[in-house]
Amino acid sequence: MSIHYGLKGIVALESNISRIDGGRSILEYRGYNIHNLAANASFEETAYLLLKGKLPTTLELKKFSETLAERRELPGKIIGVLYNLPTINYPTVILRTIYSYLGDMDEKLFQINSEELMRKAIDLIAKTPTIIAYYQNIRENKPLTHPNKTLSHAANFLWMLNGIEPDRVEEKALDLDLVLHAEHTLNASTFAARIAASTLSDMYAGIVSATGTLFGPLHGGASHNVIKMLRELEGKDAKDIEKWIDNKLQKRERVMGFGHRVYKTLDPRAKELRKLAKKLDNLKGNAWIAVSDKLTEIVYRKKRIYPNVDFYAASVYANLGIPEDQYINMFVMGRIVGWITHMMDQYQNNKIIRPLQKYIGKEERAYIQIDKR
Ligand code: CMC
Repeated sequence: MSIHYGLKGIVALESNISRIDGGRSILEYRGYNIHNLAANASFEETAYLLLKGKLPTTLELKKFSETLAERRELPGKIIGVLYNLPTINYPTVILRTIYSYLGDMDEKLFQINSEELMRKAIDLIAKTPTIIAYYQNIRENKPLTHPNKTLSHAANFLWMLNGIEPDRVEEKALDLDLVLHAEHTLNASTFAARIAASTLSDMYAGIVSATGTLFGPLHGGASHNVIKMLRELEGKDAKDIEKWIDNKLQKRERVMGFGHRVYKTLDPRAKELRKLAKKLDNLKGNAWIAVSDKLTEIVYRKKRIYPNVDFYAASVYANLGIPEDQYINMFVMGRIVGWITHMMDQYQNNKIIRPLQKYIGKEERAYIQIDKR
């Protein structure tokens, strides 16, 4: 019995959703290169492409975007839950909890015909930014800023979060970030979503599983730790940064935002996000990329590993003024499209996901009565 720890190198299924060539720094959604999508497609267009498998016509995109915009508002009962949370410590924990409440309110929870799945999909994608923004409004003791149907998905989120409409650069920045996060083959959170779907559990259950899985610092939680690191190292010279890295590596700790299971060269999303973060740095008078570049050089020299998507996402979010503990939720806002697309695919070609283990404990032990132990 050969064991593949972390399922490293295991091909678990066939998919036509996305493709990574980790040696050549290639990522494609439905056959379209991520750099082309980054240059041309909005988040809404990318979501359509992933969910439906083809690029939309102008009319199809208009209709799809309008439907998303119409479904942004949360039911009153959910707003009531947000106002009555017993604690408000971890926004991602609250987000996954609200998904569960939404599931409980769905009268057609277990229906998985294509029409129902698409209704649930649109609802979840449309409502996610509202959950995140309302939570932030409430925690800051501000009145709720309700969704604005005339704004794009990205612009509307920044509007709800800050109570002012973003400028074009900020809107485009978040939009691009969402496009780049929308899908990424069989990463841990997507796999979690597919496992839930493989038991024929409901879509909300898959999204709760995926959000919980993304929360870990080795996955979507990395960007939150990256900004903490950048803040600590901001203003330090290269020698001090090197000392800091040496100390971390000596303790066998991971440097957040570096390395990847599949990319053995630069993550193509990181390339796009670095450009974006640099542009935002210049506009906002920040220097996140200066310290990031020093770190990149040192970490590569010592470990031969590259920055990943979470490394530069942190600088983008910092420049957009996103609260630091909401960074993982930004990832959810994009990746929820990939999770849902994979769940739909799993429902369609289902085989329950159930790997084996090799047992290494004792066998056939005699049971000893409690008073004899
Ligand atoms: N810092 C220091 N050393 C590292 C790092 C790192 N960030 N990443 C990899 N390595 C080293 C490490 O020495 C490892 O050896 P060991 O197993 O003895 O610790 C060796 O490289 C090989 O690692 P690997 O087998 O290529 O990595 P993996 O597939 O087991 O893990 C990873 C991939 C992303 C979990 C890991 O690189 C990591 O922990 N990175 C930091 C967290 C992070 O940035 N996560 C975001 C990932 S990208 C977006 C996402 O999925 O959310």
